[in-house]
Amino acid sequence: MNSSALVLERVDAGDRAEFQSSVLAGLSRMPRAIPAKFLYDAAGSALFDAICELPEYYLTRTEIGILRQCAGGIAALAGPGCALVEFGSGSSVKSRLLIEALQELVAYVPIDISRHHLDETAQRLRRDYPGLRVEPVCADYMVLKALPAGLPLASRRLGFFPGSTIGNLEPDEATAFLRRVRGLLGREGALVLGTDLKKDPRRLHDAYNDASGVTAAFTLNLLSRMNRELGADFDLAAFEHEAFYNAAESRIEIYFKSLKRQTVHVAGRKFSFSAGERVHTEYSYKYDDASMAALARSGGFEIVRTWTDPARQFAVSFLRGVP
Ligand code: AVJ
Repeated sequence: MNSSALVLERVDAGDRAEFQSSVLAGLSRMPRAIPAKFLYDAAGSALFDAICELPEYYLTRTEIGILRQCAGGIAALAGPGCALVEFGSGSSVKSRLLIEALQELVAYVPIDISRHHLDETAQRLRRDYPGLRVEPVCADYMVLKALPAGLPLASRRLGFFPGSTIGNLEPDEATAFLRRVRGLLGREGALVLGTDLKKDPRRLHDAYNDASGVTAAFTLNLLSRMNRELGADFDLAAFEHEAFYNAAESRIEIYFKSLKRQTVHVAGRKFSFSAGERVHTEYSYKYDDASMAALARSGGFEIVRTWTDPARQFAVSFLRGVP
């Protein structure tokens, strides 16, 4: 066994311990909740990729369409000689649009918790852009406090946080996240942020309740993951996915719901569920101009420009750090 395999095993063991303690804590408090990040194991990530292709899930294709239109405008605002720092390097389709538009890009720094995804992204980008300096950082960008020393970071750093991932965060968490990002990006830092916009509740509802059941499978995969990794005995047929728009809070709320009174074992502990009891898994906040401006402000940024699609479904904004 080589040393990188050893490191991987250690990370896996650490991951499982963190998953277990978060699940046990989340099922022990009332109301019950499990953090959204645990939805993304290998199976969950594949299901999320499938969500992005769904006819009802307009977010991904709308954002890519906007980025195609505004990449030149972003490059003009950012100016030449930036380092592009991406928080969570998911599909590289979006980063490529910026990599190709930015002038004299100094480096592309993808930050991701998955070593595997990072290595794949870095390899593909180095192959497709031979002159590009790719400096992957394996870290949880939700807690990262400083970028590793020795990175070829230009004084001007352009952050990239697409996909409405910020929508997963509650307002105070989103503010704290932006403040930390502001610190990571430095004095001349700017941020390209993708946010989903408030719209017809019916449209929002359908995006999280697709006809083919992929989103339900994504939520219920969390139960399979607990069964696989924590020796749990969730009966997947005895729970269902539930998602609805809470207009007062401007957010989609997602849960898995017990269809009957039942007891489940997780890591040697017993948890009783009443019929209809829910376990929260995700929020997906929706913004408008005013709430976006307020969020940017509270995070130490100001919005310089926002681009949307003609139907105003999704927004891509260029934020600059407030001195
Ligand atoms: C990855 C957080 C942007 O909120 O739309 C999609 C996650 N969950 N369908 C979203 C998700 C169910 C997604 N984000």
